[in-house]
Amino acid sequence: MITLQKKKSKDFVVLNLTDPQLANSEWEEGHQNRQILEYTVRELVARVSPDLITVSGDLAWAGHTVAYEKLANFLDSFAIPWAPVWGNHDNQEGPDAVDAVADAFLKHPYCVYEKGDPALGNGNYVIAVEEEGKMVEGIFMIDSHDRNYLQTEDGSPRDVWAKLIPEQLVWYENEVKRLKEAGCLETAMILHIPFYAYHLAAEAAYRPGIDRKEMTLAQAEGPDVWQEGYENSIGVMYEGVGCYPGEDGVFEVIRRGGSTKYVIAGHDHINNWMIDYEGVRLIYGLKVGAGCYWNPILNGGTVLQIGSEGVKEARHEFVNVSHLLSQKEN
Ligand SMILES: [Fe+2]
Repeated sequence: MITLQKKKSKDFVVLNLTDPQLANSEWEEGHQNRQILEYTVRELVARVSPDLITVSGDLAWAGHTVAYEKLANFLDSFAIPWAPVWGNHDNQEGPDAVDAVADAFLKHPYCVYEKGDPALGNGNYVIAVEEEGKMVEGIFMIDSHDRNYLQTEDGSPRDVWAKLIPEQLVWYENEVKRLKEAGCLETAMILHIPFYAYHLAAEAAYRPGIDRKEMTLAQAEGPDVWQEGYENSIGVMYEGVGCYPGEDGVFEVIRRGGSTKYVIAGHDHINNWMIDYEGVRLIYGLKVGAGCYWNPILNGGTVLQIGSEGVKEARHEFVNVSHLLSQKEN
């Protein structure tokens, strides 16, 4: 377990970045996508003064060693602890490739990362936030893998997004117990691929008949969009929930544990909703930069504000980069 210290007089601020995902070539000096990413992160760090930067997966593309190294150097330049979890693109060249990136990251002085039990993937670990000797929040960092292959009726394999493996759920439950015994009753979870309850939450919360693709950010803050009981939800959903297509058991262990109140996922770049689903705020982190695909109105990062009683607020911080976009992309 990694432990970071919170000052009593001040909130501990976590800044989550998701899916930066630049290729080697996009890190070349002067590349527009590098400029957008660097401008956005510098603006976010200046605005929120984070105590920890988390990155919820798809940091680059597997095999793009230069891109991983450039990103790690850039994050290190802020002299603030930073902690990644891996996404499907990080995992897509197999466990040895991920492990090599993890080894390279661990050489960076501000990278706080633990590989954890290799049977669970790479990077299943907990970051504890401690205030004067008392743990006030535990942050679960979870590897959500890449793909699963389902057997279809005609015998051909069907390629779907991965789910957490049963051993990870056992690990999570044991860690929740361990944290409780240490007096820590509040936890958050950060992972890349959303789990099945994200799909259920979206179906339950948005009013039926709403054209989600046409919804503006302002409309999504209003009462016309959300079903009764979900009025404190926010955000848009311009694409489907890219999760494993069936019950994965994750929400059940979260509910049983009773300590995880906030979850941040990435993966679906043009969703940014936050929905309170059965007592847990399920969040799509705001994507950082133009890597892979994006919508410039959904650019920025997501903040977890931690007080003496744990997380007290989750919010998006939007960064306008229209001045960096070429005419073509405007
Ligand atoms: Fe992804």
